[in-house]
Amino acid sequence: MRYNFSPYVEQVCFPPISEVRSWLAERPDAGCSELIDLCQAVPNYPPPAELTAHLQHLIDDPQQSRYSPDEGLEEVRREVCDWYRRHYGAAPQPQEICLTIGASQAFWLAMMVLCRAGDEVIVQLPAYFDHSMGLQALGVRPVYAPFDPQCGGLPDLATLKTLMTPKTRALLLVSPSNPTGTVIPPETIEALLALANQHGIALVLDETYNAFVDGRPHHLFANPDWQENFVHIASFGKTFSLTGYRAGALVADASFIHHALKVQDSMVVCQPRLTQHALAYGCRNLDAWVAQNRFMMQQRHDRFKELFPSKENRFKLVASGGFFAWVHHPWERLSGREAARRMALEANLLVLPGEVFGPGLEPYLRLAFGNIDETLLPEAVARFVALGQK
Ligand SMILES: Cc1ncc(COP(=O)(O)O)c(C=O)c1O
Repeated sequence: MRYNFSPYVEQVCFPPISEVRSWLAERPDAGCSELIDLCQAVPNYPPPAELTAHLQHLIDDPQQSRYSPDEGLEEVRREVCDWYRRHYGAAPQPQEICLTIGASQAFWLAMMVLCRAGDEVIVQLPAYFDHSMGLQALGVRPVYAPFDPQCGGLPDLATLKTLMTPKTRALLLVSPSNPTGTVIPPETIEALLALANQHGIALVLDETYNAFVDGRPHHLFANPDWQENFVHIASFGKTFSLTGYRAGALVADASFIHHALKVQDSMVVCQPRLTQHALAYGCRNLDAWVAQNRFMMQQRHDRFKELFPSKENRFKLVASGGFFAWVHHPWERLSGREAARRMALEANLLVLPGEVFGPGLEPYLRLAFGNIDETLLPEAVARFVALGQK
C-alpha cells in the first residue's frame, strides 16, 4: 500500500451489523431452524400499497430523475412542517429543514457544521454506534456519560455538567433510545436544552423512533427561541417503513441549514426526488397508518415484557421500549460480542453485542424485537431460555 489511511478512520470499528451478519456463514447447522433476526432495526411490515402506487404514477415523469434543490423541494418541506405541527404541536419553518439521506446523513451534517477535529461531543451511554463511529471518523472525541441501569440510561444533568469542557460542542442524545428504548421525558428535554444553552453549546436530539411513542415527544418547537441551540435529527425511514429510501431530515436554525447546505452539496447534493415524494405522501396521508403500527408495536412490546422475564430465563431485561430491549446476558466470562456470536451459532438468533454501544457495556445485548411479528416472540424467548441453561 503506497498511501496512508486517515488515522481517524482507522480507529473506527467495522460496522457492527455487517460483523454480526458475517457470523451466519459459520453456523454449523445453517437452515435447520428459522433465523430470528433481532439485529438491524427494520420494521417487519412494508410501506402501505397506496404509497407505492402513488410513486408508480410518478416514475415515468422525467422530472423525477433530476436533482432537486439541495435542501429538498419546498412543497415537500411544507408537508414535513405540517407533520411536525400535528405531532409536536408546533413546527419549524421550511427554511429550517434540510432533507437528507436518512437520519444518518443529517447527523453528519450536524456534526460537520458544529465541530472541528479535536473537539468533544458529550454522548449518553449506551450510545448509538453510528454516532460514535461518525464522531471518531471526524476526529471528534465522544465523551461518554455513564450508563445507569437503574434508570434505563436516562441522562443525569448533574453528571452531564461535570463532562463539559471548553472543547465541548454539543450534547448528543437519542430519544427513544437506540439501544434501550428509553424515552426522555419532555421536561428533561427542556432541562437539557437549558443546560446546553448555559454552556453555549448545541443540544442535538436524534428522534429516529418518535413514531413509536404516544403523545408529543417534547414542546421545544413551541419555544420562540428553539433555534438558538436546538438541532433535531429525524428519520422517516422507520415512521413510514421506508428505511431503504433513506428519508431523513435535519432541523435547525436557518443559518445552521445555510452552512449545512455547503456540506450537503459536496456530499450528496440532495435527497432523491422519489424519496421526497414518498415522504410528502406519508406526511400528508399516513397518520392513521402510522398510529396503527405504533399500537401494534406497543402490543409487541407488552407481549415481549410478559414473556421475557422469568425464573428460567437467565438473560435479564434491563430496559425496553419502542423498538428495542436491552438485556444482561448470563455469561460472566464472555464479552457481548462472544455472547452474541454464541447466540448466532447455537440458536440461529441475531442480536447486537453491548460493547458496540460504548465502552464497558460487554455484559449487555441489544434486541430489536420490533423486527419480528408478535407470533414469533414465544419462539425467540424460548431460544434465550434454552441457551441460558447450557
Ligand atoms: C438512533 C438512530 N439514528 C439514526 C439511524 C439511522 O436512520 P436512517 O436509516 O434514517 O439513516 C438509526 C437507525 O437505526 C438509529 O437507530
